[in-house]
Amino acid sequence: MERANFGSKLGIVLASAGSAVGLGNIWRFPCEAGENGGAAFILIYILCVAFLGVPVMVCEFVIGRRSQANTGRAYSVLAPGTQWKWVGLNGVMAAFLILGYYGVVSGWTLGYMIASATGGLSGDMDYARFFYDFSGNSWQPVACMVAFITLTHVVVVRGVKEGIERFSKVMMPVLLLIVCVLAVCSFSMPGAAAGLDFLLRPDFGKVDAGVVVDAMGQAFFSMSVGMGCLSTYASYFSRDASLMRTAGGVAVIDTCVAVLAGIIIFPAVFSVSGIETDAGPGLVFVTLPNVFRLAFSSAPVAGQVFSLMFYVLLVLAALTSSISLHEVSTAYLHERFAMSRKKAATIVTVFCILTGTVCALSFGPLNGVRLGGLTIFDLFDFVTAKLMLPLGGMFIAIFTGWKLDRSVVRDELTGGGRLYVPFFNSFIFILKYVAPVAIASIFVNEILK
Ligand code: TRP
Repeated sequence: MERANFGSKLGIVLASAGSAVGLGNIWRFPCEAGENGGAAFILIYILCVAFLGVPVMVCEFVIGRRSQANTGRAYSVLAPGTQWKWVGLNGVMAAFLILGYYGVVSGWTLGYMIASATGGLSGDMDYARFFYDFSGNSWQPVACMVAFITLTHVVVVRGVKEGIERFSKVMMPVLLLIVCVLAVCSFSMPGAAAGLDFLLRPDFGKVDAGVVVDAMGQAFFSMSVGMGCLSTYASYFSRDASLMRTAGGVAVIDTCVAVLAGIIIFPAVFSVSGIETDAGPGLVFVTLPNVFRLAFSSAPVAGQVFSLMFYVLLVLAALTSSISLHEVSTAYLHERFAMSRKKAATIVTVFCILTGTVCALSFGPLNGVRLGGLTIFDLFDFVTAKLMLPLGGMFIAIFTGWKLDRSVVRDELTGGGRLYVPFFNSFIFILKYVAPVAIASIFVNEILK
């Protein structure tokens, strides 16, 4: 069977950036930065991106393109008969689990987008109550999640080139444009300086080991690395794409969008006085709608446009990411069991809707179901983002640094000797020593907490 491929280098960068740019950038990053010392957090985050995120991303690219296989099989191709296959299977499992709870928050963004378009988010209302009632409701969040996963399904079913690449090529430029427009608008609001000051003033007093762990976890999650999501995409890369450059480009786009999201959110929040700033997850769903209303009280239509644009942005970002998560499991089933792409995607969709439903209901009727004090949703988040991703990332680095033949890695990075690759030895050094030690120590620290 001939393997699917991305059609162009631009498509490769945009699809990978589409995977990376997601709720992690727009929903989680601003909260994390706001709570953990502003620019101090951003600085540590950027170090994590550069010295851990990018190298691990390059490893995933090497593994995917070299093996020409989905994540579940890639390790068996590169190291046949070894236990390394578990790293790949862990990735497939992680992707599936993440998609379940990711679909829930994405569903909320879809619900908010619709509410914003139909005027349901304007006027004098209690937004905290609205969010609480909406997310705790027993059918609305489930319906939104189902709608969202279905949208994901529709794109994935069409295939790599016609579905994923095409969608990313249209939607990523739209997304980047919206980010820029919103940042300029937010910037020009009265009081924006105070918001920027809050976001960008470094407060190193807040930085402790826990913050470094958060920054690393956030970097992995935001860049989609640690489980083979991008290695599945890389198995569709053409031979002439530069892996280093692609990883660098994706990292820059991802980081810029995250910082710009902070620049959109905080000045807008601070332009409105007397409003409680919730730097937690409620930021996007409670504080912001309030801000949109108050900041534009004399021009409600402009406020509605601003708010609609913001939620469209969230939906697009979430969609390109969920597509990449869906593709991991779809490609695995499709190739492992030689079933049609449509059948594989349908199975993934159905099972995701099941896990998603349980996660969605854990804010309402199933809220009482706790494991170790965590709701089902939080448990999914904890197990995947805090355990599976860092561990996966560590093994991916070790596999590439220690197990794979140096000549294979060099061949992939130089594209068969065509490309000049600076820092090759430093890169290998990071893979062999720095990344495993850093991730392991941070990880142990987290578990012992
Ligand atoms: N990176 C995406 C975000 O920022 C989420 C995501 C997509 C992801 N694929 C992933 C996270 C793979 C971890 C692993 O929202």
